[in-house]
Amino acid sequence: MTEPVIRVVDLGKSYETAAGLFPALKGVNLEIRPGEFIAIMGPSGSGKSTFMNLLGCLDTPSMGDYFLAGENVAHMDKDALAILRNRTLGFVFQGFNLLPRMTLQDNVALPLVYAGLDKKERRPKAREMLAKVGLGQYAESLPSRISGGQQQRVAIARALVNEPRLILADEPTGNLDSHTSEEIMRLFDELNGEGITIVLVTHEPDIAAHAGRQVKFLDGQIVSDQATPTREAVPAC
Ligand SMILES: Nc1ncnc2c1ncn2[C@@H]1O[C@H](COP(=O)(O)OP(=O)(O)O)[C@@H](O)[C@H]1O
Ligand SMILES: [Mg+2]
Repeated sequence: MTEPVIRVVDLGKSYETAAGLFPALKGVNLEIRPGEFIAIMGPSGSGKSTFMNLLGCLDTPSMGDYFLAGENVAHMDKDALAILRNRTLGFVFQGFNLLPRMTLQDNVALPLVYAGLDKKERRPKAREMLAKVGLGQYAESLPSRISGGQQQRVAIARALVNEPRLILADEPTGNLDSHTSEEIMRLFDELNGEGITIVLVTHEPDIAAHAGRQVKFLDGQIVSDQATPTREAVPAC
């Protein structure tokens, strides 16, 4: 068997609150193999974003181990973590998180700045990724000039620009109407078809049906982990 892209062992996270330590994630175990498309589901407050932020190295666990591409992230220092994160994964947020005063191509090129590429190398890569998500003609535009669905495509292009093998997306269609959501999901399907591993949070069954495997959270724990029953065509909305 191939080595998992992600392996978490008894992973936990507690937040400090005025009322004391609050355990948002209570010892989670999960393995994700290269090329999988996983939907993370569960009610609001069940720990999905806490889990995704740990997977994306945006936060550090309170307990347990996290192996990303075989390396134990829990014991890495900040610099090593930033390099591994930049090289291995792309993160897509519900709110797009584009910088409003930067052109779309400069937004997409941001991870390349952190990777140390100079401007001459960044531009063509950013344009290539914008073209891949169907927005090549808007390279010089500002985010405010395009729709929400298009902004999410730009955010996906930004997540792809370092050619990561893993995309993490926390409710990427949460701010989009159902038709636009379906278009965004077709893009994720296409990326998964190219071999990119995808972990995507949603609470909509129609969206989760795009994944091959569905993992449900409740009260900071995984309560089910199943293959998606049938991958029949999702009806157009
Ligand atoms: N920074 C934080 N400080 C304190 N509590 C938090 C923090 N972030 C999340 N929580 C709490 O942890 C629980 C899980 O939150 P979250 O992971 O955002 O859930 P979900 O994404 O499933 O809605 C919730 O009860 C939430 O209020
Ligand atoms: Mg959340």
